[in-house]
Formats: sequence, structure tokens, C-alpha cells
Amino acid sequence: MTISTSHPARWHVPTPHLDYQRLWNSVRRLGRLSNRLGIDLGTSKTSIYSPEQGVVLQEPSVVAINKETLKPIAFGTAAKELIGRNPEEIAVIRPIRNGVVTEFELTEQMLQRFMRQAQGGHPVFRPQVAAACAHGVTSIERLALTEVMSEAGARKVSLIDKSIAAAIGAGLPIDHPTGNLIVDVGGGTTEVAIVGQMGTVINVTSWEAGEAIDQAIQYFLKSRHHLLIGELMAENIKIKYGSAFANPQQDNQESNISGLDPVSGLCRSVTICRGDLREAISKPLHSIVDTVKRILELTPPELISDIADRGVILTGGGALLTGLDQLISHEVNLFVQMASDPLNGVAMGAGYTLETPVPHSKILVAQ
Ligand SMILES: Nc1ncnc2c1ncn2[C@@H]1O[C@H](COP(=O)(O)OP(=O)(O)OP(=O)(O)O)[C@@H](O)[C@H]1O
Ligand SMILES: [Mg+2]
Repeated sequence: MTISTSHPARWHVPTPHLDYQRLWNSVRRLGRLSNRLGIDLGTSKTSIYSPEQGVVLQEPSVVAINKETLKPIAFGTAAKELIGRNPEEIAVIRPIRNGVVTEFELTEQMLQRFMRQAQGGHPVFRPQVAAACAHGVTSIERLALTEVMSEAGARKVSLIDKSIAAAIGAGLPIDHPTGNLIVDVGGGTTEVAIVGQMGTVINVTSWEAGEAIDQAIQYFLKSRHHLLIGELMAENIKIKYGSAFANPQQDNQESNISGLDPVSGLCRSVTICRGDLREAISKPLHSIVDTVKRILELTPPELISDIADRGVILTGGGALLTGLDQLISHEVNLFVQMASDPLNGVAMGAGYTLETPVPHSKILVAQ
């Protein structure tokens, strides 16, 4: 009897067919588990940029919680939709105020959700994060921002000055000695800065920005037309009909606005024209312009000539208000250019610092 040491079937094992498409898909899926994220945790919205995939998340910085259990029930867009429509047992909270973490645990839970979403739902790796940080915050507020990112799942956190991130995101050559004037009109803050040579030379911040414009619209309708509207409605009116600069062709255009009559308790509509609406928001608009004027007063003459050559870069969601670029240009007599992606520029700029070798020590904020 002969004993065969090798099973004859061994010789007929077919060579496994390599499915290149599946292999490629797996590699792409792995790539999608992005472990580097640029994050802009804004007062109104959070943007996340991945060097591999571009902007992967843009969600309102809003959390809805059950008041009894204090457990979050919705985040982002789903939570924002509940503003003004929430049942009694639900509270809708904005956990970031003027660029600062005010509700630590809610911010952590919101960020954890957003980071997971940005990484494709089932992250394998804890991401390395570059987070934008407002210029004037205290060391405790910076520490809170770093902590909240770590607690939400970041492996390593670096903070980058928000104006520098905005400048990088707008494609400005900040490694050159020339100064660039960047105006970031957000939801809670207007941050105006002169940046150059990897640093912020001067920074002036005002608390009048997009939300202050919404409040001015609410106040105008209440005081002039005795009509109550909610904050989401005010934001929609601003986006649809708001303008910052006179336009004779459009200023008489009328729009119907519905709201609540506080006396009768009934629904009522009023007609307003764009010109009146602009008048109504003139205070926050002037405050934004004054912030730009203030920085110009503080700017050394050498840098003023750079700025006269290069003009102003306008960014942030508030920059999308119709005619704001014209108003600033008219008031400060400088050329104003809109950033290519005003809503996501800060997250993009933060994310670029993770993919491009730049002398980080100069642009990163000490923690
Ligand atoms: N098309 C538009 N026209 C006018 N305003 C707009 C438009 N789109 C968005 N906004 C406003 O932009 C603001 C949000 O901008 P952005 O996302 O840059 O703020 P943020 O970064 O969250 O806030 P901050 O920088 O103050 O912390 C909101 O007030 C929003 O209403
Ligand atoms: Mg912002």
C-alpha cells in the first residue's frame, strides 16, 4: 500500500481569481476612514474637511435634548428644525456661543456624532484633528476646545487660529511677508484680521454677525409691524430678501411675511420691501463695517499699502448676504473679493495644515 503525502486534490486547487474592483473598493473604503480632519466648530454650524475627500460634513451646531433625561434626541439639521416647534419636554440648545464651548457634554456628544458621520459611519481609526480656534479666547477656553475634541474621539488635536485657517482656506499666500485683510462674518462673531507670514498681525472681533442681523429683523417686525416671528423665519427672510447695499431696481420689491399678531393671538401677514428690511438691519451692518474700519486704523502703514493692492477677502456664511461686499468696498474704499467657499473655508484651511507640511509652530495656537 502506498501512502500519498500530498492529497491529489492539492494539485487542482484553482488559482483564486483576483477581483480588482473589490480590492479597489476596499482600498477606497479604507481611505474613507479618514484619520485626518479639519474642524470648524462654529456658533451656527460645524464644518468638517477631510484632506482625502474634501468637505465631508456641514451641519448646524445644534442639539435637541429631552429635558427630563437630559439625553440628546437629535443633532444638526434635525435638531435645528425643532427650533420654535419643540414640544415642552424637548429643549433645543446651541452648545457653542461666539466660537466658545459653553455646553461641554452636549458639544462632545454632537462632535462625536459629526466626526463619526464624517468618517463614513464606522470609524476604525481615531482621527487626527486640526480645529479652528477664535483669536481672542482665553487659555481655559482653548483647553476646553482641545478636551472636547479628544473626548469626542480625536487622537491628536492641534488648534489653528481661525483667521489664519480662513486665509489658508481662501488660498491666500500667508507664508509671504505681504499682509492680507480677511473679514470672516459668521453667525455669532465677525472676526477681522490682518494675516501674513504665518501669523495674525492684528485681530479685531465684534459680536455682531449673522445672528444679530436675524434678531434685528425680528425686532423690526415686532416694533414696526406688531408681528412676532421665530429665529428660523428671521434667518430665512435675511437669506431670501436681505441686502446690505442699495439697489434701486430691487429696493421697492415687496414680500409677504406671515407671523403671529401678539394682540389678537392670530396669524397675520404684512408686506415689507427690501429697502425697509435693509434699514432694519443697518445697525449690525454698520457694526461689521466699523470692525473693518477699526482694524485699518490699527494697521501699520507698510501693511496698508499691501492691503490697498490686494484688497479685502470676505468669508463666513454672513458674507453671503446680498451686497455686503459692495457695502464694505464702498465704506472702506478697497476692492472686496469673496472667498471661494465662504461657509467651509475655515475647516478647509484647518484641514490643509494636516496635509501640507507647513511650519506649524508659527500657525498653531499654543494650548
Ligand atoms: N445666503 C446667505 N445670506 C445671508 N446670510 C447667510 C447665508 N447663508 C448663511 N448665512 C448666515 O451665515 C451665518 C453662519 O455663518 P458661518 O457658518 O460662517 O458661522 P459660524 O462659523 O458657525 O459662526 P462663528 O464663526 O461666529 O462661530 C448664519 O447667521 C447664517 O444665517
Ligand atoms: Mg465661523
